[in-house]
Amino acid sequence: MLNHKGTCILETARLILRPFTVNDIEDMYYNWACDEEVTRYLTWKEHKDINRTSLAVALWVKSYNEKEFYNWVIQDKKNKKIMGSICLFSVDNYNGNCEVGYCLGKEFWNKGIMYEALIRVIDFAFCEIGFERISARRHLGNLASGRVMKKCKFIYEGTLRNVIKDKEGNLVDCKYYSILKSDYIKDKLLLHNK
Ligand SMILES: CC(C)(COP(=O)(O)OP(=O)(O)OC[C@H]1O[C@@H](n2cnc3c(N)ncnc32)[C@H](O)[C@@H]1OP(=O)(O)O)[C@@H](O)C(=O)NCCC(=O)NCCS
Repeated sequence: MLNHKGTCILETARLILRPFTVNDIEDMYYNWACDEEVTRYLTWKEHKDINRTSLAVALWVKSYNEKEFYNWVIQDKKNKKIMGSICLFSVDNYNGNCEVGYCLGKEFWNKGIMYEALIRVIDFAFCEIGFERISARRHLGNLASGRVMKKCKFIYEGTLRNVIKDKEGNLVDCKYYSILKSDYIKDKLLLHNK
């Protein structure tokens, strides 16, 4: 049985992961949502105006009432800039699994930010909620995302053909990965006992 807690505030060395608020709308729009390079491999199109961002955030803010809704904004602890988001979705209570998705503004790429955020969310998902498995998928061209998954010890499981519509509405192949609680806990214990 999963112990759902909703989008709790999580911390890492450099980051705070917290629920979005309506005060994040403008920064989200300018820092990542309006950028077509950020959405290059995503299923949603860059926002053409701030109203689109406003609608998305309003929906999330409403959804925070639900204990099974997990969507964090990633914020720099020091300068308080918001840089991107990370979420758990497709929650399957019966089988104890979910999927993870994430994105970050270009200005913040290649500084290990998503690695740091993902590691924290994995720990929360396994050790606090009790998921047994987290999966992730990426567009074949999205090598940086594949690298983040690998750094976090996700295992590649295979490529599904024509499985998801890209942001233009065309079906594309995706590479699928997963990480298991059993493996994660084993690694954590090994590290602890070193
Ligand atoms: C994918 C994404 C989240 C990565 O975030 P990030 O904070 O830059 O990731 P990290 O810095 O933790 O790690 C990125 C790794 O990819 C590597 N990398 C970056 N661009 C790469 C490329 N074109 N080819 C191969 N590796 C690449 C980096 O060198 C780094 O690896 P390293 O730590 O071994 O040097 C970010 O690029 C992003 O938000 N992209 C747009 C949205 C998106 O694609 N989301 C994922 C959908 S599946």
